[in-house]
Amino acid sequence: MLSTLALLASLSLGVDSAALQPRLDDGVAETPPMGWSSYNHYSCSPNETTIRSNAKALVDLGLDELGYRYVGIDCGWTVADRLPNGSLTWNETMFPSGFPAVGQYIHDLGLLFGVYEDAGIKTCSTGADQAGSLYHEQQDAATFMSWNIDALKYDNCYSQEDTGYPNTDYAPSTSPRLRYANMADSLAAQSKKVLFQICEWGIDFPALWAPSLGHTWRIGNDIIPAWRAIFRTLNQAAPQTSFAGPGQWPDLDMMEVGNNVLTTPEEQTHFSMWAILKSPLVIGGALKDEWKSISDASLSVLSNKDVIGFNQDSLGHSASLRRRWSDQGYEVWSGPLSGGRTVAAVVNWAGEARELTLNLPDIGLQSAGIVKDIWNKKTLSNVKTTYTASVGAHGVMLLELQDTTTAGVYASEDFATVSGNKTTFHSLYANTTSTNHTVTVEFAGLAATKTAILLQSFSKAVQVPVAPSARSVSTTIPLTAGYSNEITISSTVSIKSIRIASPSGTYYACTSFTLGGSSKLEECDAGFCTPVGSKIGYINAENTVHATIPASVTETGSETSTTSKYLEIDYINNDIALATSWDWGSSSRNLTISLNGGDPVRLEVPLSGRHSELFGPGKGWWDSSKLGILIDGWKNGPNDLVIGNEVAGDVSQTYGADFVGLHLYD
Ligand SMILES: *[C@@H]1O[C@H](CO)[C@@H](O)[C@H](O)[C@H]1NC(C)=O
Ligand SMILES: *[C@@H]1O[C@H](CO)[C@@H](O)[C@H](O)[C@H]1NC(C)=O
Ligand SMILES: *[C@@H]1O[C@H](CO)[C@@H](O)[C@H](O)[C@H]1NC(C)=O
Ligand SMILES: *[C@@H]1O[C@H](CO)[C@@H](O)[C@H](O)[C@H]1NC(C)=O
Ligand SMILES: *[C@@H]1O[C@H](CO)[C@@H](O)[C@H](O)[C@H]1NC(C)=O
Ligand SMILES: *[C@@H]1O[C@H](CO)[C@@H](O)[C@H](O)[C@H]1NC(C)=O
Ligand SMILES: *[C@@H]1O[C@H](CO)[C@@H](O)[C@H](O)[C@H]1NC(C)=O
Repeated sequence: MLSTLALLASLSLGVDSAALQPRLDDGVAETPPMGWSSYNHYSCSPNETTIRSNAKALVDLGLDELGYRYVGIDCGWTVADRLPNGSLTWNETMFPSGFPAVGQYIHDLGLLFGVYEDAGIKTCSTGADQAGSLYHEQQDAATFMSWNIDALKYDNCYSQEDTGYPNTDYAPSTSPRLRYANMADSLAAQSKKVLFQICEWGIDFPALWAPSLGHTWRIGNDIIPAWRAIFRTLNQAAPQTSFAGPGQWPDLDMMEVGNNVLTTPEEQTHFSMWAILKSPLVIGGALKDEWKSISDASLSVLSNKDVIGFNQDSLGHSASLRRRWSDQGYEVWSGPLSGGRTVAAVVNWAGEARELTLNLPDIGLQSAGIVKDIWNKKTLSNVKTTYTASVGAHGVMLLELQDTTTAGVYASEDFATVSGNKTTFHSLYANTTSTNHTVTVEFAGLAATKTAILLQSFSKAVQVPVAPSARSVSTTIPLTAGYSNEITISSTVSIKSIRIASPSGTYYACTSFTLGGSSKLEECDAGFCTPVGSKIGYINAENTVHATIPASVTETGSETSTTSKYLEIDYINNDIALATSWDWGSSSRNLTISLNGGDPVRLEVPLSGRHSELFGPGKGWWDSSKLGILIDGWKNGPNDLVIGNEVAGDVSQTYGADFVGLHLYD
């Protein structure tokens, strides 16, 4: 056990290292499962009429052909008492033909049949008691198989014996794992492989153990029919993205698309993010019943083939959070797709439509031969460095990028204009303002005549000697944060490309900060709170921490005497919204950075915990993550930098995220 944890800790250091766990490799759910389920619309009151009409609608609307095949009958289908022989049975008033017949109907439509049960003594609160599967796992698995099910969603209510089996126990004394393993074993003993959907609301960090038992695991508590659920869910998903892979999918919960609680841009954001994070795509709206049919707008969101393609992509890699601009209200996610493609999403948290810009280097790219702007229904070619488009209120810019080049490499033919012996490169990106970017010039060939090149960036010109046989030469140059830098190179030999690397910068560990108020420095076990090994907690508006940081802002060509520099903050947050998820819990925490007495810049960080919040090392409060942020107001000489939480209303009560350290790219 210890060595597994140590291994995981080391895996979580690398940004792209997959944290894939030993998994149940039975051929089920090689791509995220897709379907429809009754809960989000019908709550715990499914009945035969609505199940049949929604199943039929999956076919009539062509959704089955797009991949939506599981029809899940969620809570409310069973009764309090088992049959005299101990078998579970359905509510005969609500399902007069019985579950085998309903299952047959679903199968006859070419669809798959999913049922719901619970790893406790009763299913989740429905008003009336209904039997759970705890202590009946083998018999219930056999019963489900006799009904020819294809999927089991397994919930977690009334499961904790030592607290008297309450409806929910979010901090149980024992892990839910064993109860899920009992059902997994019982299912494995049956003749047919079924999709096992683990739904214990993310308790005890199931990403570390659920893949060996089932195919999907819920990462958090239920979605609620409100826009704010999207932000909370993405904050919970952020530290789990590396755990997604064939046969093991983080479940962001059934979708609210089609339930008339979200606007069309909001539904596009919801659907896009679930898709690119490789969540199961389970429709939770009423497709068709006696009273309702899904709107054309929602149907068109759910039917978008590009987005479904991102979800079902053979690579099975989740997108991950790249940058978040909390004050400006937007953020960038991206991830790889098969065929060398990349998917990127820019979420507009603001309640108004506006133009947003994706800087390709923020997702590791410099250019794209083709960019498909999915929701704007546009395809662009030869996109360089940046892409700007309008995004609706709470909407998303969702892009598929093909034929891409790596960030920092600029080919002359794409980025330069040549005039005589002058080659001028345009659209050069820098994420920080610094005199110390490294530029490497690659020549198109060898030429005996070349001796030196003249390189000009802003007001700075450098003469760089070139050895006769050199194919490339490097120097440092000033660049300003942003995407409109230019460099002109005078050279008699033509230039093939240039490469630009950020300054390596300086790391400031939390241990070099001065503690204010009741903020506290805590040491973590070896391998945790990376890269420092300790962290500062209990930071709020009054209890801030500060450091004096030297900077050099000369020679950047900037008009002003202060400049912007890029920081990467190592933070920790494991404040998981469980009970508060029904309300305003967001699974986020703020941190503010204020420089030289300037306005605090806010970074609202998602969860970072990658271990059990109940039993794991540091209870998940020792797992750090990084996010970058641009801070303006650097001046030459010493700068006073304050980390706090200077935004929340009740300042003395609200703690920010824990702070591990920061990397300043100066
Ligand atoms: C089935 O559920 C629908 C939607 O909740 C409801 O309108 C209908 O009356 C129910 N039918 C029966 C037979 O209970
Ligand atoms: C079946 O469901 C109906 C509607 O929810 C409920 O009134 C009835 O008590 C249920 N029957 C049993 C045996 O639980
Ligand atoms: C229990 O009884 C039901 C109803 O008669 C029957 O369908 C089922 O097969 C029985 N289960 C077992 C395990 O005998
Ligand atoms: C941006 O900053 C990161 C540091 O996180 C660096 O690795 C990357 O190369 C930078 N990109 C550019 C284009 O400056
Ligand atoms: C570029 O050409 C100009 C004249 O057009 C010449 O004066 C200059 O020396 C050349 N520079 C280099 C680096 O070859
Ligand atoms: C510039 O960067 C190099 C390596 O990246 C570093 O050794 C040097 O100290 C930096 N210089 C300044 C002035 O920051
Ligand atoms: C973070 O700050 C923003 C702006 O003040 C606030 O709306 C939000 O609720 C804060 N989040 C948390 C988790 O305190």
